[in-house]
Amino acid sequence: KPLVVAIDGPSGSGKSSISREVARRLRANYLDTGAMYRAVTIACMRSGIDLADAVAVEAATRNADIDLSTSPDAEWVRVGGEDVTQAIREPEVSSNVSAVATTLGARAELVRRQQQLIKDSGLRIVAEGRDITTVVAPTAEVRILLTASEEARLRRRGVQLGGSQSAAALREQVLTRDVKDSTVVNFQQAADGVITVDSSDLDFEETVRAVLDVVFS
Ligand code: CDP
Repeated sequence: KPLVVAIDGPSGSGKSSISREVARRLRANYLDTGAMYRAVTIACMRSGIDLADAVAVEAATRNADIDLSTSPDAEWVRVGGEDVTQAIREPEVSSNVSAVATTLGARAELVRRQQQLIKDSGLRIVAEGRDITTVVAPTAEVRILLTASEEARLRRRGVQLGGSQSAAALREQVLTRDVKDSTVVNFQQAADGVITVDSSDLDFEETVRAVLDVVFS
């Protein structure tokens, strides 16, 4: 039977690593929708598109040839056939991605593609992002908002980036992006029927279990 698990959360909440592991344990597919926003951002940057030009960004999104893995065991993203798995994580992309995410026409196109990928998975998938519980899959069997305190989120993102960023740069990256993203999607508060899992005081395994507890409740 169908099992779509929708997980939203802010930057540094651990939603990607947690969602991937939950997908593995459920033997389900996995969709990282943030990777799609990042892929479009790279496509725009490489073709010299002005990210402030909504019409151009929307057109570029419609034309973007994005292919990404929906297996939790294989992480890859391709744009126009080129592997951009590493490139989409560069700080430059992180700082530009909100421009794509706040372009409504770009969102509409990516939401459509995400809904198609969920269908193609045979409705056995853990999909994560900012608007999965509310826009992409509001009828999902399981809907979770994964939160964490600001302190915990900054700490995790710092570890993830290998301590290469100053505290100020990290704050700027994580918190500024969330403020920008919040102007178009509300992922700070759980929508009706969405269960909040607060991971501030949980380690990785405890968070995975907390999410699985919601799935099986
Ligand atoms: O790095 P982090 O885990 O915070 O973000 P991500 O999941 O890789 O998503 C990157 C960016 O894509 C976010 O900052 C949002 O601007 C955008 N995004 C979105 O708007 N809606 C989604 N469903 C997923 C990502």
